[in-house]
Amino acid sequence: MTGIIGAMQEEVQELVEAMEVERTETKAGMEFFCGTLEGCEAVVVRCGIGKVNAAVCTQILIDDFDVDRIINTGIAGSLDASIDIADVVVSEDLVHHDMDATGFGYPKGQIPRMDTLSFKAEEEMIADALRACETAVPHIGIHKGRIVSGDQFVSDPVKKKDIIDNFQGKCTEMEGAAIAQASYLNGIPFVVIRTISDKADDSASMDYPEFEKIAIANSVKIIREFCRITAGR
Ligand code: ADE
Repeated sequence: MTGIIGAMQEEVQELVEAMEVERTETKAGMEFFCGTLEGCEAVVVRCGIGKVNAAVCTQILIDDFDVDRIINTGIAGSLDASIDIADVVVSEDLVHHDMDATGFGYPKGQIPRMDTLSFKAEEEMIADALRACETAVPHIGIHKGRIVSGDQFVSDPVKKKDIIDNFQGKCTEMEGAAIAQASYLNGIPFVVIRTISDKADDSASMDYPEFEKIAIANSVKIIREFCRITAGR
């Protein structure tokens, strides 16, 4: 069973419409749609925005829906001049850019007393995600690398530079690292696939609404293709 998490209704709506839904269940205010997507047994859910919602949702997927892999889809702000609006980033690893225990000597992003700074996506899921991107959206830029997350919509060039300098991430969003951490704690493979909606700078608030729709449409195509090529696995 594949768990597919999107933060926003707009991101999840089209996937649900493409599914054969067998049943729905509501937990923690989140509606879980269980059924088949492109031949793949799947649960699709909107977790809400931010890392706490994302972590709660991931744990419910694991405990109550028996998922054996998790995909997080959605949009993100680019942190790299070579990654354009509408391009896709497939996660290599995830870091919390707003975790700071440097006062205790930990590197920025490191959660005290955890044995890892970043949470690594699974190699096979990364390879499948890249393959799905190449088929579903061959006309756009496809990138692989670190995705960073924080409970912040990044729209300030100074903040953006600070995140780049500290973490060398390819894009920033608000859920991925929480989903990655919850998956890591439970030993469940995951990958995060994000389409770029803005440049995480002072144009972000203007670009975001304009490009959100294109970014979501691309994400949906990629997830459907991912399910198609991995169905039955
Ligand atoms: N999601 C899309 N764009 C974002 C940004 N600039 N910061 C955080 N999350 C985002």
